[in-house]
Amino acid sequence: MNDRIVTVPGNDWAKPASAQALVPELEAGKVLYFPELRFELLNGEAALLRDDIRSPKSRNISLRADGQIAGAAAADTDEERRLAAMISRFRIQACALIDGLAPSYKPALRLAPTSFRPSQVASRVQSWRADDRRLHVDAFPSRPNHGERILRVFTNLNPAGEPRVWRVGESFEAIAQRFVPRAKPYAAWQARALRALRVTKSLRSEYDHLMLQLHDGMKGDLDYQQHSPQVTMPFPAGSTWVCYSDQASHAVMAGQFMMEQTLHLQPQAQVDPQASPLAILERQLGRRLT
Ligand code: SIN
Ligand code: FE
Repeated sequence: MNDRIVTVPGNDWAKPASAQALVPELEAGKVLYFPELRFELLNGEAALLRDDIRSPKSRNISLRADGQIAGAAAADTDEERRLAAMISRFRIQACALIDGLAPSYKPALRLAPTSFRPSQVASRVQSWRADDRRLHVDAFPSRPNHGERILRVFTNLNPAGEPRVWRVGESFEAIAQRFVPRAKPYAAWQARALRALRVTKSLRSEYDHLMLQLHDGMKGDLDYQQHSPQVTMPFPAGSTWVCYSDQASHAVMAGQFMMEQTLHLQPQAQVDPQASPLAILERQLGRRLT
């Protein structure tokens, strides 16, 4: 199981070591772990690392692609501006890291909001479906993506040196073998109704349906949670990691203060499109899913 995490030396965000060799690992659903890639705080930014800088109504603070900040409860506009500047600096570094790792992705990448997560994970109270302490692959009920990839860069900036503790699970192929046979069948009329009721932002394809079934199937199976192949990985403060979170099975058990950048990519723009969850599921089922 230890091969699900690939450690990459080097402390330059823009020049990851042996980048070429890492793309196949990333596209195989592994987690690339950069122990020496630290997000440096500038003067005064340590004061932004507190739980109550997040609005109690939001789960995270996010910086949208257009530069607008959401979910913050900063003391004043100056503090909000400094918060936006800090998150934006992480966005630039995260994008440089992906550009260095996979230069061929660049023209195809679509930037999603950047998030700052200042709350302690271990004590969060949530429904089982929203509980990211259970192993899962990312899939979002209201946002069908028709196979588009979810590539994420994470950095732990905990000032007290606390790790962000993840569990990393088995391969996507193994998850699909186990949970696709248990999935409820797709119903196109239901997808149209969800769209009409605006429960979903676009039509939920069979791919989106299956990904949600995998997400819920994994999270809802306590025996699977405890006994399936997995490793616990405490990502130290001052480290960074990257994965396709729609493919790499993950759970977050503890930690506070993390930044996360999401980038979207059409599977056709991968170095190996056949490695995508869409291709894996289509091969398994023998039909188109979007
Ligand atoms: C997740 O994507 O499941 C959460 C990851 C984290 O907050 O560390
Ligand atoms: Fe997740």
